[in-house]
Formats: sequence, structure tokens, C-alpha cells
Amino acid sequence: MATRNTIILAAGKGTRMKSKLYKVLHRLCGKSMVDHVLTQVEKTNMDNVVTIVGYGAESVEEELGDRTKYVVQKEQLGTGHAVLQAEDLLADLDGTTMVVSGDTPLFTAQTFENLFKYHEDKQAKATILTSKAPDPTGYGRIIRNELGIVTKIVEQKDATADEATINEINTGVYVFDNQALFKALHQITNDNAQGEYYLTDVIEILKDQGDIVAAYQMADFYESMGVNDRVALSKATKIMQARINTAHMKNGVSMVNPDDTYIDVDVQIGADTIVEPGVQLKGNTVIGEDCFIGANSEIRNSTIHNGVTVTSSMIEDSEMMDGSNIGPDSHLRPQSLIGENVHLGNFVEVKKSEIGAGTKVGHLTYVGNAKLGKNINVGCGVVFVNYDGSKKHETTVGDDSFIGSNSNLVAPLNVADHSFIAAGSTITDDINQYDMAIARARQTNKAGYYKKLPYDAD
Ligand code: UD1
Ligand code: CA
Repeated sequence: MATRNTIILAAGKGTRMKSKLYKVLHRLCGKSMVDHVLTQVEKTNMDNVVTIVGYGAESVEEELGDRTKYVVQKEQLGTGHAVLQAEDLLADLDGTTMVVSGDTPLFTAQTFENLFKYHEDKQAKATILTSKAPDPTGYGRIIRNELGIVTKIVEQKDATADEATINEINTGVYVFDNQALFKALHQITNDNAQGEYYLTDVIEILKDQGDIVAAYQMADFYESMGVNDRVALSKATKIMQARINTAHMKNGVSMVNPDDTYIDVDVQIGADTIVEPGVQLKGNTVIGEDCFIGANSEIRNSTIHNGVTVTSSMIEDSEMMDGSNIGPDSHLRPQSLIGENVHLGNFVEVKKSEIGAGTKVGHLTYVGNAKLGKNINVGCGVVFVNYDGSKKHETTVGDDSFIGSNSNLVAPLNVADHSFIAAGSTITDDINQYDMAIARARQTNKAGYYKKLPYDAD
């Protein structure tokens, strides 16, 4: 049976990143480079996906989980040596094997499909995916003979001055007849400028033994970009961001300035939502239709339903129901559930709390470990006092209650529905339905006292 396989090369250290983090684990738009590669590979129906790991093997395996098989390359002796490590797993199979690097995060599944198709049409033993680089420095160059047929790939460091002027580059993606690949890999040597076993040398070996070697030149160089250092990482991030934002705009999302809007690859946004500049939408955030996400808001791993307004606020691991609003300058910390049409105004912090439909928390308030019912009015400067220095405690407030400004609700506490807390109270005891609680020192007025003060009293 003809199989389709992919080998992802991810064993290198990535010295040029100058990082404690291994190269392929550097992230752009919410995912590591190697995860982006694997995600696209997964869309192309492979029988086997093998990732070659070495430096940081454990972290790479943790990152990708059981979505791929792994083979360890103990010493990083070059890309050819890396592929050879998959021999035990793959060498006997009939079929086609694609090789792709873990540091080329912008490739799309469509390009991989196009490459497979071209390879099949040409009945080739190997097909190289190439592109034309505005600046080919650092890439392997594609050498063609006078008939335009590919004869070999020359690495930057091994290139003659003439070869170095060629701008058709090796993208580092290839498809091979599987068995021809592993046979040829036994013939490569490390006799080159870097003393490495180059995968690229397989091309010349196959060509010299009379096999058909093809090259499929893709139109968009930027999709093929390799990331070896942080400058390239930032370029790749920009390209991916533009791609993500364009897709959202085509789906009906308005962006005031897409160049300054940062959306992770898995975020979903409904039509007619407007996203202002400086916004960051991260992780698995889902945003509904008709929302307004105002300037500089940051939303992480949260679900925002339809018609929600977020004004310059931060939302983490939380959910906001239809028609609710927040901000400016408010913060939902993890596990906050904000009901329909709730109003959260400015400088409001909510943590691990539920706020029922129609409730208003307008200004300067902290709600922590609390469950608020519907249609409650929370005044200005209210504190849900949830921490006694060692433990967190809970507060519940029933529907249609009124919490006066500058109150402290000291948990654990139960405030029944339809109850009233007078402004400035520090509440430590439960309150029953229809009761008013007032807990503050009574005011005393001293007649004429002003005149005793050393002020001009005329
Ligand atoms: C490689 C190609 C070059 C191509 C470029 C495209 C070779 C010899 N050169 O160069 O022609 O233009 O990619 O981006 O293949 N790796 C291992 N084990 C090793 C060495 C590398 O797993 O022993 C992995 C790295 O982690 C990386 C990938 O292989 O993901 C490519 O290695 P890298 O050193 O980045 O190759 P380039 O110099 O970019
Ligand atoms: Ca590279």
C-alpha cells in the first residue's frame, strides 16, 4: 500500500536565536513554530508523522503530545542525519515522504498538497519546494542545468560566488519516494563547509543515478520563510498576523488598524464585530457577533458572546454573556462569569465570581469569590472582602438588592434578595430579605465648631 508520511525536523538547538528556549518552541500568534508546522501537516491526511527531536526533546514532546511519533537524534550531525533517524519507522514503507523543518511556520496545507500533486504528476523520485527570495542569503541555492533541470542544492557556505547570486532557494520542504530517500541517505557524506550530513545532498545523488528530480516553485516566498533568529521571528509574526487579520476581515470583522491588532491563530470572531487598534486577542478566545472591542483591550482564553462592549480592559479565562459591557480600565480575572446586559464600569476588578443578568457595578469596585444575582446595583467603591489572610471566603447577594457606595462585604456572607445595604457600611452579618443593613458610626454635628478653628471665618 502506498503511504503518505511526513518527517518534521526539530532536533536543532537554534544557536542563532540566542535563547534558553529551543528554536522550534519559539511562539508566534499563540503557537510554537513546530506546532504551526504540525497543524498544517495534519490537514493533509498523512499515514505517519514522525518528528525528529534532540535538543529539548522532552519539551517538544510535551508541546506536541501524541499528535506525532518521535525519534531522537542524539547528536545533531545535520539534516540528512536527522532524517535517517526515522529509518526504523519508515524505511520499509511504499509511498511518499515529505520532509519539512520545524522552523518554517508559515507554510500552508494547500502548498503541501500542491507539492504532492506536482511530484505525482512529474512521476519524480524527489521534488523540492523552491521559491524566489528577494535576498537569498542563508538559504540553499537551487542549481539548474542549461535545460532548466535541477541538478543539486548548494548551501550558502559551500556556494561559489556565481552560485551565491542565484535567488531560487530551497525552502527546506521536499517530497521523496520513501525507499529511494532512505537508500540515498546512506550515501551522503559530511565533506562540506559545515562538516554536516546535508539532506540536500540526496538530490544530487538521485539525479546522478538517473532518477527524476523535480522542483516546484511556489509563488509566495514569504510563506516559505525559515526562522533562524529573532529578526526573522518578528518578520514571520508580522506576516502571520496579517494573514489572520485578513481572514477575519473577509469574514465580516471590522479592524480600524489591522497593522496594530494582534490576534492568535485559533481565535474566533463573529461578523460585524469591530476591533480597535492595540487590541490583543489570545489563546482560544471566542468573540461573538456585533461586539465592540475597544483600543488596547487584552482578552485571553475567554468567551465573549454577542453584542458585548469591551472598552480598554483586560479579560482572562472568563465569559461575558450577550449585551454585557465592561470598561474602561477594568479587569476580569480567571473564572468570572458575567451575565446578560451586566454593566461593569471603570476600575472594576472581578475574580472567580458570577454576576447575574442586568446587575450594575459602575465604579471602583472589587468583586472576589462572590455570586451576585440579577438586577443588583453595586455602588461606587464597594469591596467584597474575601481574604482573611490565610483563606478565601464566599459572598452571595440575592436578586434586586442594593449595595450602597463604599461598603465592605466581609465574607463569608449571605445577603438575601431584595435587601438594602446603606452606604459606608462594613457588613459582617447575613442580611434577610427586605431588610436594610446599616453599619457605620452615627454622625455627630458640633454647632459653631468652625469658629474655634484657626481659620479666617468671615
Ligand atoms: C536548511 C537547508 C537549506 C534551506 C533552509 C530552508 C540543509 C542542509 N539546508 O538550512 O538548504 O534553504 O533549511 O529554511 O538542509 N535539524 C535537525 N538536526 C540536525 C540539524 C538540523 O533536526 O542535525 C533541524 C533543525 O532543528 C531545523 C531544521 O532541521 O528545524 C533545519 O535546520 P537548520 O540548521 O535551520 O538549516 P538551515 O541552515 O536553515
Ligand atoms: Ca532553518
